[in-house]
Amino acid sequence: MMRPGGLLLLAAACSLSACGGSGGLAPLGPAIVSRDPEPSYDVPYVPTPAPVVAAMLELAALKPGELLVDLGSGDGRIPLAAGRAGARARGVEIDPALAARAAAQARQEGLDGSVRFVREDLFGSVIRDADVVALYLLPAINRRLEAKLLTELRPGTRIVSHAFLIGDWTPDEHRVVDGRNIYLWIVPAIAGGRWQIDRADGSQLFLDLDQRRQQVTGTLADQPISDASLVGRRLRFSTAAGELFEGNVGDADIVAVPATSAAPAWRARRLD
Ligand SMILES: C[S@@+](CC[C@H](N)C(=O)[O-])C[C@H]1O[C@@H](n2cnc3c(N)ncnc32)[C@H](O)[C@@H]1O
Repeated sequence: MMRPGGLLLLAAACSLSACGGSGGLAPLGPAIVSRDPEPSYDVPYVPTPAPVVAAMLELAALKPGELLVDLGSGDGRIPLAAGRAGARARGVEIDPALAARAAAQARQEGLDGSVRFVREDLFGSVIRDADVVALYLLPAINRRLEAKLLTELRPGTRIVSHAFLIGDWTPDEHRVVDGRNIYLWIVPAIAGGRWQIDRADGSQLFLDLDQRRQQVTGTLADQPISDASLVGRRLRFSTAAGELFEGNVGDADIVAVPATSAAPAWRARRLD
């Protein structure tokens, strides 16, 4: 259930006068729908303005055919915009009237083959098939969602959020659009742990990585690595000798990217 502060926070995140009425759909009534005395939900309904929707899809680099999932989809404007751009989309919305309105709009636009809406609690929603997840929720809800996002989503999945961060997870990108903050995160692979690197010349090296979300530090043959980055599955780091390692992190191995790696061919396997 929504705590009283929720509405105030969303109101503070956007000027209330700017929060409604700018979408591509028919007028939707007041920016904030008061449900009293009906049950309230974890987050009140406040729509994202159309230019911010467009910027979120652009920030997520949503491509035709990809699947966007909007957790708390309101009137469906983010999934509908994704569908108009040739992507597939699913809106997850707990309010039956909003979910029905969004589904009707999809039918009216002939998008119901690629854009659908489910009446569901976002915390129980299965999201592992998403390429992009959209959020316009509240800080406390984003925090509660973090573990689900990090464990259920595949490495490389993009998360875009209007207005609010996800706990202390540093975003990969941040933009301001019409005075609104939008954030992008790319779900990292699990790279932390001990790896054995086997090189083409038969030599072996131990790679020890510490990981906090997409931030990675560590050592190779007990020497600190530098310039380490982890974007989805793609891991890059340099050695003190200036050698570049670049590879794709899988569950049990890291496979070098031969075309871009200056290092001789190598492959790593997980030891722990
Ligand atoms: C701030 S609105 C965002 C609507 C839409 N995503 C947008 O950006 O225009 C949040 C939405 O989440 C829905 N919601 C709140 N709690 C939910 C829950 N537990 N599961 C699914 N939807 C929820 C609300 O009904 C509301 O429509």
